[in-house]
Amino acid sequence: MEFALKHNTAEKARSACQVITVTQPRKLSAGGQRVDSSNKGMLSAILKRGDMEGKLGQTLLLTSGIAGAAQRVLLVGCGKESEMNERNFARVIDAIVKALTASGARDTEICPADIPLKGRDLSWKVRQATLLLGNSEYRFERLKSGKKAARKGLRKVYVNVARGEAARAAKAIGEAVAISAGMSLSRDLGNLPANICTPTYLAKQARELARGDKSLRVNVLEEADMKHLKMGSLLSVSAGSRQPAKLIAIKYRGAAAAEQPVVLVGKGVTFDTGGISLKPGQAMDEMKFDMCGAASVFGTLKAVTQMQLPVNVVGIIPATENMPDGIATRPGDIVTSMSGQTIEILNTDAEGRLILCDALTYAAKFKPRCVIDIATLTGACIIALGKVPSAVLGNNPALINGLIKSGQQIEDKIWELPLWDEYQDQLKSNFADMANIGGRDAGTITAACFLSRFTKDYKWAHLDIAGTAWKSGEDKGATGRPVPLLTQYILNQVK
Ligand code: BES
Ligand code: MN
Ligand code: ZN
Repeated sequence: MEFALKHNTAEKARSACQVITVTQPRKLSAGGQRVDSSNKGMLSAILKRGDMEGKLGQTLLLTSGIAGAAQRVLLVGCGKESEMNERNFARVIDAIVKALTASGARDTEICPADIPLKGRDLSWKVRQATLLLGNSEYRFERLKSGKKAARKGLRKVYVNVARGEAARAAKAIGEAVAISAGMSLSRDLGNLPANICTPTYLAKQARELARGDKSLRVNVLEEADMKHLKMGSLLSVSAGSRQPAKLIAIKYRGAAAAEQPVVLVGKGVTFDTGGISLKPGQAMDEMKFDMCGAASVFGTLKAVTQMQLPVNVVGIIPATENMPDGIATRPGDIVTSMSGQTIEILNTDAEGRLILCDALTYAAKFKPRCVIDIATLTGACIIALGKVPSAVLGNNPALINGLIKSGQQIEDKIWELPLWDEYQDQLKSNFADMANIGGRDAGTITAACFLSRFTKDYKWAHLDIAGTAWKSGEDKGATGRPVPLLTQYILNQVK
Protein backbone atom coordinates (compact mmCIF):
# COMPACT_ATOMS: atom_id res chain seq x y z
CA MET A 1 0.00 0.00 0.00
CA GLU A 2 1.23 3.43 -0.88
CA PHE A 3 0.73 6.57 1.20
CA ALA A 4 0.82 10.21 0.13
CA LEU A 5 0.04 13.47 1.87
CA LYS A 6 -2.69 15.88 0.74
CA HIS A 7 -3.61 19.34 1.92
CA ASN A 8 -6.85 20.16 0.11
CA THR A 9 -10.01 21.21 1.91
CA ALA A 10 -12.56 18.43 2.21
CA GLU A 11 -14.96 19.57 -0.51
CA LYS A 12 -12.09 19.56 -3.03
CA ALA A 13 -11.01 15.97 -2.48
CA ARG A 14 -10.26 14.07 -5.68
CA SER A 15 -9.92 10.38 -5.01
CA ALA A 16 -11.82 7.18 -5.61
CA CYS A 17 -13.30 7.49 -2.16
CA GLN A 18 -13.32 10.19 0.44
CA VAL A 19 -13.76 9.01 4.01
CA ILE A 20 -15.90 11.19 6.24
CA THR A 21 -16.32 10.48 9.92
CA VAL A 22 -19.60 10.71 11.77
CA THR A 23 -19.88 10.73 15.54
CA GLN A 24 -22.95 9.82 17.52
CA PRO A 25 -25.55 11.18 17.36
CA ARG A 26 -25.45 11.88 13.61
CA LYS A 27 -22.70 14.51 13.69
CA LEU A 28 -20.53 15.11 10.65
CA SER A 29 -16.84 16.00 11.01
CA ALA A 30 -15.82 19.55 10.06
CA GLY A 31 -14.68 18.31 6.65
CA GLY A 32 -17.91 16.38 6.28
CA GLN A 33 -19.88 19.54 6.93
CA ARG A 34 -18.05 21.31 4.10
CA VAL A 35 -18.81 18.48 1.71
CA ASP A 36 -22.39 18.63 2.95
CA SER A 37 -22.73 22.36 2.20
CA SER A 38 -21.24 22.02 -1.27
CA ASN A 39 -23.78 19.24 -1.90
CA LYS A 40 -26.87 21.16 -0.76
CA GLY A 41 -27.18 19.32 2.52
CA MET A 42 -27.17 15.87 0.98
CA LEU A 43 -25.15 14.25 3.77
CA SER A 44 -27.15 15.76 6.60
CA ALA A 45 -30.32 14.63 4.83
CA ILE A 46 -28.97 11.08 4.80
CA LEU A 47 -28.19 11.27 8.51
CA LYS A 48 -31.63 12.69 9.24
CA ARG A 49 -33.32 9.84 7.39
CA GLY A 50 -31.71 7.45 9.86
CA ASP A 51 -29.33 5.57 7.57
CA MET A 52 -26.24 6.58 9.48
CA GLU A 53 -26.37 6.94 13.22
CA GLY A 54 -22.58 7.24 13.61
CA LYS A 55 -22.28 4.08 15.71
CA LEU A 56 -18.76 2.78 16.13
CA GLY A 57 -17.71 0.90 13.00
CA GLN A 58 -20.92 1.59 11.09
CA THR A 59 -20.30 2.45 7.42
CA LEU A 60 -22.35 3.80 4.55
CA LEU A 61 -20.87 4.00 1.06
CA LEU A 62 -22.29 6.57 -1.34
CA THR A 63 -21.26 5.68 -4.85
CA SER A 64 -22.82 8.49 -6.89
CA GLY A 65 -24.37 11.92 -6.83
CA ILE A 66 -21.66 13.72 -4.90
CA ALA A 67 -20.93 16.92 -6.75
CA GLY A 68 -17.41 18.29 -6.94
CA ALA A 69 -15.99 15.77 -4.55
CA ALA A 70 -14.47 12.31 -4.81
CA GLN A 71 -16.06 9.51 -6.84
CA ARG A 72 -17.43 7.99 -3.68
CA VAL A 73 -17.97 9.03 -0.11
CA LEU A 74 -17.64 6.59 2.75
CA LEU A 75 -19.34 7.66 5.92
CA VAL A 76 -17.80 5.88 8.88
CA GLY A 77 -19.13 5.92 12.42
CA CYS A 78 -16.85 6.70 15.37
CA GLY A 79 -19.47 6.21 18.10
CA LYS A 80 -19.82 8.73 20.89
CA GLU A 81 -16.97 11.19 21.11
CA SER A 82 -16.73 10.65 24.86
CA GLU A 83 -16.21 6.92 24.33
CA MET A 84 -13.47 7.18 21.72
CA ASN A 85 -10.23 5.51 22.76
CA GLU A 86 -7.18 3.87 21.14
CA ARG A 87 -8.95 0.58 20.66
CA ASN A 88 -11.97 2.19 19.04
CA PHE A 89 -9.65 4.23 16.83
CA ALA A 90 -8.38 0.92 15.47
CA ARG A 91 -11.95 -0.27 14.97
CA VAL A 92 -12.73 2.78 12.88
CA ILE A 93 -9.74 2.08 10.61
CA ASP A 94 -10.81 -1.55 10.47
CA ALA A 95 -14.30 -0.58 9.35
CA ILE A 96 -12.85 1.65 6.62
CA VAL A 97 -10.70 -1.20 5.33
CA LYS A 98 -13.63 -3.64 5.30
CA ALA A 99 -15.96 -1.27 3.50
CA LEU A 100 -13.41 -0.26 0.90
CA THR A 101 -12.16 -3.78 0.24
CA ALA A 102 -15.73 -4.71 -0.65
CA SER A 103 -15.99 -1.65 -2.95
CA GLY A 104 -14.40 -0.89 -6.28
CA ALA A 105 -12.26 1.92 -4.90
CA ARG A 106 -8.52 1.38 -5.20
CA ASP A 107 -7.48 4.59 -3.55
CA THR A 108 -8.96 6.71 -0.83
CA GLU A 109 -8.52 9.90 1.09
CA ILE A 110 -8.66 9.89 4.86
CA CYS A 111 -8.36 12.66 7.41
CA PRO A 112 -6.96 11.16 10.65
CA ALA A 113 -7.42 14.45 12.52
CA ASP A 114 -11.19 13.96 12.17
CA ILE A 115 -11.20 10.84 14.33
CA PRO A 116 -11.91 12.39 17.71
CA LEU A 117 -9.43 10.94 20.21
CA LYS A 118 -8.39 13.10 23.13
CA GLY A 119 -4.80 12.91 24.36
CA ARG A 120 -3.28 11.81 21.05
CA ASP A 121 -1.82 14.36 18.68
CA LEU A 122 -1.96 14.46 14.90
CA SER A 123 1.36 12.64 14.49
CA TRP A 124 0.03 9.77 16.57
CA LYS A 125 -3.22 9.57 14.59
CA VAL A 126 -1.44 9.69 11.25
CA ARG A 127 1.12 7.11 12.30
CA GLN A 128 -1.36 4.74 13.88
CA ALA A 129 -3.80 4.98 10.96
CA THR A 130 -0.98 4.35 8.49
CA LEU A 131 0.31 1.42 10.51
CA LEU A 132 -3.13 -0.19 10.77
CA LEU A 133 -3.89 0.36 7.09
CA GLY A 134 -0.46 -0.94 6.07
CA ASN A 135 -0.85 -4.07 8.20
CA SER A 136 -4.36 -4.72 6.93
CA GLU A 137 -3.12 -5.85 3.53
CA TYR A 138 -0.83 -8.55 4.95
CA ARG A 139 -1.54 -12.05 3.58
CA PHE A 140 0.51 -15.22 3.76
CA GLU A 141 -0.31 -17.00 0.53
CA ARG A 142 3.02 -17.98 -0.93
CA LEU A 143 2.55 -21.65 -0.09
CA LYS A 144 -0.88 -21.99 -1.66
CA SER A 145 -0.81 -23.39 -5.16
CA GLY A 146 -3.09 -22.32 -7.98
CA LYS A 147 -3.84 -18.97 -9.49
CA LYS A 148 -3.73 -16.13 -7.05
CA ALA A 149 -7.03 -14.28 -7.26
CA ALA A 150 -6.54 -10.72 -8.50
CA ARG A 151 -6.02 -8.64 -5.40
CA LYS A 152 -8.89 -6.33 -4.61
CA GLY A 153 -8.64 -3.66 -2.04
CA LEU A 154 -6.78 -0.45 -1.44
CA ARG A 155 -3.58 0.40 -3.27
CA LYS A 156 -3.12 3.99 -2.31
CA VAL A 157 -4.14 6.14 0.62
CA TYR A 158 -4.04 9.91 0.60
CA VAL A 159 -3.61 11.24 4.10
CA ASN A 160 -5.11 14.68 4.39
CA VAL A 161 -3.53 17.03 6.92
CA ALA A 162 -3.27 20.81 7.22
CA ARG A 163 -0.33 22.25 5.34
CA GLY A 164 1.34 23.37 8.58
CA GLU A 165 1.39 19.75 9.79
CA ALA A 166 2.98 18.34 6.64
CA ALA A 167 6.48 17.77 7.99
CA ARG A 168 5.27 16.02 11.13
CA ALA A 169 2.79 13.91 9.19
CA ALA A 170 5.42 12.87 6.65
CA LYS A 171 7.66 11.71 9.47
CA ALA A 172 4.80 9.77 11.05
CA ILE A 173 4.01 8.07 7.74
CA GLY A 174 7.67 7.17 7.20
CA GLU A 175 7.85 5.56 10.63
CA ALA A 176 4.62 3.65 10.14
CA VAL A 177 5.65 2.33 6.74
CA ALA A 178 8.99 1.14 8.13
CA ILE A 179 7.39 -0.53 11.14
CA SER A 180 4.79 -2.15 8.93
CA ALA A 181 7.54 -3.54 6.67
CA GLY A 182 9.31 -4.88 9.76
CA MET A 183 6.12 -6.49 11.00
CA SER A 184 5.49 -8.13 7.63
CA LEU A 185 8.96 -9.64 7.62
CA SER A 186 8.47 -10.83 11.18
CA ARG A 187 5.08 -12.37 10.33
CA ASP A 188 6.42 -14.07 7.21
CA LEU A 189 9.23 -15.74 9.15
CA GLY A 190 6.81 -16.75 11.90
CA ASN A 191 4.23 -18.17 9.51
CA LEU A 192 6.71 -20.24 7.51
CA PRO A 193 6.59 -23.91 8.50
CA ALA A 194 9.51 -25.50 10.30
CA ASN A 195 10.45 -27.66 7.33
CA ILE A 196 11.28 -24.46 5.44
CA CYS A 197 12.19 -22.07 8.23
CA THR A 198 15.13 -23.95 9.74
CA PRO A 199 18.07 -22.40 11.62
CA THR A 200 20.00 -22.47 8.33
CA TYR A 201 17.13 -20.65 6.61
CA LEU A 202 17.13 -17.96 9.29
CA ALA A 203 20.88 -17.46 8.84
CA LYS A 204 20.29 -17.08 5.11
CA GLN A 205 17.53 -14.54 5.72
CA ALA A 206 19.87 -12.53 7.91
CA ARG A 207 22.37 -12.33 5.06
CA GLU A 208 19.51 -11.46 2.72
CA LEU A 209 18.42 -8.61 5.00
CA ALA A 210 21.94 -7.21 5.04
CA ARG A 211 22.57 -7.62 1.32
CA GLY A 212 23.32 -4.32 -0.36
CA ASP A 213 23.03 -2.38 2.89
CA LYS A 214 26.21 -0.89 4.23
CA SER A 215 24.77 -0.26 7.68
CA LEU A 216 24.20 -4.00 8.34
CA ARG A 217 26.76 -6.72 9.02
CA VAL A 218 26.01 -10.38 9.66
CA ASN A 219 28.07 -12.98 11.44
CA VAL A 220 26.90 -16.58 11.85
CA LEU A 221 28.44 -18.94 14.39
CA GLU A 222 28.32 -22.65 13.54
CA GLU A 223 28.07 -25.45 16.10
CA ALA A 224 31.88 -25.87 16.00
CA ASP A 225 32.24 -22.19 16.96
CA MET A 226 29.73 -22.64 19.77
CA LYS A 227 31.68 -25.63 21.06
CA HIS A 228 34.76 -23.46 21.03
CA LEU A 229 32.96 -20.80 23.05
CA LYS A 230 31.75 -23.53 25.47
CA MET A 231 28.06 -22.92 24.82
CA GLY A 232 27.14 -26.26 26.35
CA SER A 233 23.62 -25.19 27.19
CA LEU A 234 22.66 -24.05 23.70
CA LEU A 235 24.26 -27.14 22.17
CA SER A 236 22.34 -29.43 24.53
CA VAL A 237 19.13 -28.27 22.84
CA SER A 238 20.32 -28.78 19.26
CA ALA A 239 21.80 -32.21 20.14
CA GLY A 240 18.60 -34.02 19.16
CA SER A 241 18.17 -32.29 15.81
CA ARG A 242 19.45 -33.10 12.33
CA GLN A 243 19.36 -29.37 11.63
CA PRO A 244 22.55 -27.66 12.75
CA ALA A 245 22.09 -24.79 15.20
CA LYS A 246 23.19 -21.29 14.21
CA LEU A 247 24.00 -18.29 16.34
CA ILE A 248 23.21 -15.33 14.17
CA ALA A 249 24.50 -11.83 14.94
CA ILE A 250 23.21 -8.89 12.91
CA LYS A 251 24.84 -5.53 13.55
CA TYR A 252 23.19 -2.29 12.53
CA ARG A 253 25.46 0.71 12.66
CA GLY A 254 23.74 4.08 12.45
CA ALA A 255 25.91 5.98 14.94
CA ALA A 256 29.58 6.32 15.82
CA ALA A 257 31.31 3.03 16.54
CA ALA A 258 31.89 4.11 20.14
CA GLU A 259 28.15 4.42 20.81
CA GLN A 260 27.00 1.46 22.86
CA PRO A 261 24.39 -0.61 21.05
CA VAL A 262 20.94 -1.71 22.12
CA VAL A 263 21.23 -5.51 21.95
CA LEU A 264 18.17 -7.57 21.07
CA VAL A 265 18.30 -11.33 21.72
CA GLY A 266 15.51 -13.33 20.09
CA LYS A 267 14.58 -16.94 20.85
CA GLY A 268 14.83 -18.83 17.57
CA VAL A 269 13.48 -22.32 18.22
CA THR A 270 12.30 -23.14 14.70
CA PHE A 271 10.28 -26.04 16.08
CA ASP A 272 9.69 -27.06 19.67
CA THR A 273 8.58 -30.67 20.10
CA GLY A 274 9.58 -30.53 23.75
CA GLY A 275 12.46 -32.92 23.06
CA ILE A 276 12.52 -36.07 25.19
CA SER A 277 10.00 -34.33 27.48
CA LEU A 278 7.74 -34.55 24.44
CA LYS A 279 4.79 -32.21 24.19
CA PRO A 280 1.25 -33.57 23.75
CA GLY A 281 0.00 -33.55 20.14
CA GLN A 282 -2.71 -30.93 20.61
CA ALA A 283 -1.84 -27.81 18.58
CA MET A 284 1.79 -28.84 18.38
CA ASP A 285 1.91 -27.34 14.88
CA GLU A 286 1.86 -23.94 16.58
CA MET A 287 5.33 -24.63 17.93
CA LYS A 288 6.60 -23.52 14.52
CA PHE A 289 5.97 -20.07 16.01
CA ASP A 290 8.57 -20.70 18.71
CA MET A 291 11.01 -18.54 16.74
CA CYS A 292 8.81 -15.43 16.86
CA GLY A 293 11.24 -13.73 19.25
CA ALA A 294 13.92 -14.13 16.60
CA ALA A 295 11.45 -12.94 13.95
CA SER A 296 10.78 -9.78 15.96
CA VAL A 297 14.51 -9.06 16.01
CA PHE A 298 14.60 -9.38 12.22
CA GLY A 299 11.56 -7.13 11.90
CA THR A 300 12.89 -4.47 14.24
CA LEU A 301 16.23 -4.38 12.45
CA LYS A 302 14.42 -4.02 9.15
CA ALA A 303 12.38 -1.08 10.45
CA VAL A 304 15.42 0.59 12.02
CA THR A 305 17.44 0.12 8.83
CA GLN A 306 14.66 1.48 6.65
CA MET A 307 14.54 4.61 8.80
CA GLN A 308 18.35 4.75 8.98
CA LEU A 309 18.10 5.71 12.65
CA PRO A 310 21.25 7.24 14.20
CA VAL A 311 21.70 4.48 16.79
CA ASN A 312 23.59 1.22 17.02
CA VAL A 313 21.63 -2.01 17.36
CA VAL A 314 22.82 -5.61 17.53
CA GLY A 315 20.45 -8.53 16.98
CA ILE A 316 21.50 -11.91 18.36
CA ILE A 317 19.54 -14.98 17.41
CA PRO A 318 20.23 -18.42 18.84
CA ALA A 319 18.48 -20.64 16.29
CA THR A 320 17.83 -24.35 16.78
CA GLU A 321 15.19 -27.05 16.70
CA ASN A 322 14.15 -28.90 19.84
CA MET A 323 13.73 -32.55 18.79
CA PRO A 324 13.73 -35.99 20.45
CA ASP A 325 16.38 -38.42 19.23
CA GLY A 326 18.78 -41.13 20.34
CA ILE A 327 21.42 -38.52 21.07
CA ALA A 328 19.04 -35.89 22.39
CA THR A 329 19.54 -34.47 25.86
CA ARG A 330 17.76 -36.46 28.62
CA PRO A 331 15.95 -35.18 31.72
CA GLY A 332 18.53 -35.22 34.49
CA ASP A 333 21.45 -34.42 32.20
CA ILE A 334 23.76 -31.72 33.49
CA VAL A 335 25.40 -29.25 31.14
CA THR A 336 27.86 -26.39 31.54
CA SER A 337 26.82 -23.04 30.11
CA MET A 338 29.19 -20.54 28.52
CA SER A 339 29.12 -18.58 31.80
CA GLY A 340 30.57 -21.62 33.60
CA GLN A 341 27.40 -22.19 35.61
CA THR A 342 26.08 -25.74 35.49
CA ILE A 343 22.46 -26.60 34.74
CA GLU A 344 20.48 -29.71 35.57
CA ILE A 345 17.99 -30.14 32.72
CA LEU A 346 14.94 -31.52 34.48
CA ASN A 347 12.66 -30.86 31.54
CA THR A 348 13.91 -30.68 27.96
CA ASP A 349 10.82 -28.68 27.04
CA ALA A 350 12.18 -25.71 28.99
CA GLU A 351 14.64 -25.23 26.13
CA GLY A 352 14.17 -21.52 25.43
CA ARG A 353 16.07 -20.47 28.54
CA LEU A 354 18.81 -22.98 27.70
CA ILE A 355 19.59 -21.33 24.39
CA LEU A 356 19.00 -17.79 25.65
CA CYS A 357 21.39 -18.10 28.58
CA ASP A 358 24.37 -18.72 26.30
CA ALA A 359 23.23 -16.04 23.85
CA LEU A 360 22.91 -13.60 26.78
CA THR A 361 26.43 -14.42 27.97
CA TYR A 362 27.65 -13.90 24.41
CA ALA A 363 25.80 -10.54 24.27
CA ALA A 364 28.19 -8.98 26.81
CA LYS A 365 30.90 -8.89 24.17
CA PHE A 366 29.05 -6.11 22.35
CA LYS A 367 29.34 -3.78 25.37
CA PRO A 368 25.59 -3.19 25.34
CA ARG A 369 23.82 -0.05 26.49
CA CYS A 370 21.07 -2.50 27.39
CA VAL A 371 19.99 -6.02 26.42
CA ILE A 372 16.39 -6.93 25.67
CA ASP A 373 15.55 -10.58 25.08
CA ILE A 374 12.34 -11.56 23.34
CA ALA A 375 10.99 -15.08 23.67
CA THR A 376 7.92 -17.27 23.39
CA LEU A 377 9.16 -18.65 26.67
CA THR A 378 6.35 -19.95 28.84
CA GLY A 379 2.80 -21.23 28.48
CA ALA A 380 2.39 -19.87 32.02
CA CYS A 381 2.55 -16.35 30.57
CA ILE A 382 -0.72 -16.99 28.74
CA ILE A 383 -2.27 -18.24 31.99
CA ALA A 384 -1.10 -15.13 33.85
CA LEU A 385 -1.83 -12.39 31.32
CA GLY A 386 -3.79 -13.94 28.47
CA LYS A 387 -3.14 -12.73 24.96
CA VAL A 388 -3.37 -8.98 25.48
CA PRO A 389 0.03 -7.82 26.78
CA SER A 390 3.46 -9.38 26.61
CA ALA A 391 5.14 -9.84 29.99
CA VAL A 392 8.20 -7.81 30.93
CA LEU A 393 10.69 -8.56 33.70
CA GLY A 394 14.22 -7.33 34.24
CA ASN A 395 16.94 -5.93 36.45
CA ASN A 396 16.65 -2.23 35.64
CA PRO A 397 13.53 -0.15 36.41
CA ALA A 398 14.43 2.63 33.94
CA LEU A 399 14.73 0.14 31.10
CA ILE A 400 11.50 -1.62 32.05
CA ASN A 401 9.62 1.67 32.37
CA GLY A 402 11.03 2.84 29.05
CA LEU A 403 9.69 -0.30 27.43
CA ILE A 404 6.29 0.04 29.10
CA LYS A 405 6.04 3.64 27.91
CA SER A 406 7.04 2.64 24.38
CA GLY A 407 4.29 0.03 24.36
CA GLN A 408 1.75 2.66 25.36
CA GLN A 409 2.97 5.03 22.66
CA ILE A 410 2.36 2.53 19.87
CA GLU A 411 -0.41 0.31 21.26
CA ASP A 412 1.76 -2.78 21.70
CA LYS A 413 1.15 -3.41 25.36
CA ILE A 414 3.40 -5.06 27.94
CA TRP A 415 2.86 -5.67 31.66
CA GLU A 416 5.49 -6.10 34.35
CA LEU A 417 5.73 -9.19 36.55
CA PRO A 418 7.90 -9.15 39.70
CA LEU A 419 11.36 -10.61 39.57
CA TRP A 420 11.79 -10.91 43.32
CA ASP A 421 14.59 -12.92 44.90
CA GLU A 422 12.14 -15.16 46.74
CA TYR A 423 11.33 -16.88 43.46
CA GLN A 424 14.98 -17.81 42.83
CA ASP A 425 14.70 -20.61 45.41
CA GLN A 426 12.48 -22.58 43.05
CA LEU A 427 15.46 -23.19 40.73
CA LYS A 428 17.48 -25.07 43.33
CA SER A 429 19.10 -28.32 42.18
CA ASN A 430 20.68 -31.03 44.31
CA PHE A 431 23.22 -31.81 41.61
CA ALA A 432 24.06 -28.62 39.69
CA ASP A 433 24.18 -24.83 40.17
CA MET A 434 20.56 -24.63 39.12
CA ALA A 435 17.70 -26.57 37.59
CA ASN A 436 16.16 -25.42 34.32
CA ILE A 437 12.61 -25.47 35.73
CA GLY A 438 11.04 -24.09 38.87
CA GLY A 439 7.84 -26.07 39.23
CA ARG A 440 4.26 -25.10 38.43
CA ASP A 441 4.08 -21.88 40.44
CA ALA A 442 4.89 -18.59 38.70
CA GLY A 443 6.35 -20.24 35.62
CA THR A 444 6.99 -17.01 33.74
CA ILE A 445 8.79 -15.50 36.70
CA THR A 446 11.01 -18.51 37.40
CA ALA A 447 11.96 -18.63 33.72
CA ALA A 448 13.06 -14.99 34.01
CA CYS A 449 14.85 -15.84 37.28
CA PHE A 450 16.83 -18.42 35.35
CA LEU A 451 17.82 -15.83 32.72
CA SER A 452 18.68 -13.25 35.38
CA ARG A 453 21.60 -15.42 36.46
CA PHE A 454 23.25 -14.74 33.12
CA THR A 455 22.57 -11.00 32.81
CA LYS A 456 24.21 -9.55 35.88
CA ASP A 457 26.75 -7.44 33.97
CA TYR A 458 24.36 -5.16 32.08
CA LYS A 459 20.92 -3.58 32.06
CA TRP A 460 18.52 -6.26 30.97
CA ALA A 461 14.85 -6.77 30.26
CA HIS A 462 13.04 -9.92 29.19
CA LEU A 463 9.85 -9.95 27.11
CA ASP A 464 7.75 -13.11 27.25
CA ILE A 465 5.67 -13.01 24.08
CA ALA A 466 4.07 -16.47 24.37
CA GLY A 467 0.57 -14.94 24.36
CA THR A 468 1.08 -12.16 21.82
CA ALA A 469 3.36 -13.44 19.05
CA TRP A 470 0.69 -15.34 17.18
CA LYS A 471 -3.05 -15.95 17.03
CA SER A 472 -4.71 -19.37 17.10
CA GLY A 473 -8.00 -20.54 15.61
CA GLU A 474 -9.57 -19.06 12.52
CA ASP A 475 -7.06 -16.19 12.40
CA LYS A 476 -4.08 -18.43 13.04
CA GLY A 477 -0.91 -16.58 12.18
CA ALA A 478 1.97 -14.50 13.45
CA THR A 479 1.07 -11.00 14.65
CA GLY A 480 4.38 -9.18 14.15
CA ARG A 481 4.43 -8.18 17.82
CA PRO A 482 6.50 -6.84 19.50
CA VAL A 483 8.16 -5.16 16.49
CA PRO A 484 6.20 -1.92 17.12
CA LEU A 485 7.22 -1.85 20.78
CA LEU A 486 10.91 -2.55 20.12
CA THR A 487 11.10 -0.06 17.26
CA GLN A 488 9.41 2.60 19.39
CA TYR A 489 11.88 1.95 22.18
CA ILE A 490 14.78 2.46 19.78
CA LEU A 491 13.11 5.56 18.29
CA ASN A 492 12.94 6.95 21.82
CA GLN A 493 16.69 6.48 22.22
CA VAL A 494 17.19 8.84 19.27
CA LYS A 495 15.01 11.73 20.39
N1 BES B 1 7.78 -22.64 23.59
C1 BES B 1 7.29 -23.11 24.84
C2 BES B 1 6.35 -22.10 25.51
C3 BES B 1 5.00 -21.96 24.89
C4 BES B 1 4.06 -22.97 24.99
C5 BES B 1 4.65 -20.79 24.26
C6 BES B 1 2.82 -22.81 24.45
C7 BES B 1 3.39 -20.62 23.72
C8 BES B 1 2.47 -21.63 23.81
C9 BES B 1 8.45 -23.37 25.79
O1 BES B 1 9.60 -23.86 25.21
C10 BES B 1 7.98 -24.40 26.76
O2 BES B 1 7.73 -25.49 26.34
N2 BES B 1 7.86 -24.02 28.02
C11 BES B 1 7.39 -24.91 29.03
C12 BES B 1 8.23 -24.68 30.26
C13 BES B 1 7.98 -25.69 31.34
C14 BES B 1 8.46 -27.06 30.89
C15 BES B 1 8.69 -25.25 32.58
C16 BES B 1 5.93 -24.60 29.29
O3 BES B 1 5.54 -23.43 29.24
O4 BES B 1 5.16 -25.53 29.48
MN1 MN C 1 9.58 -25.97 25.06
ZN1 ZN D 1 9.92 -23.37 23.28
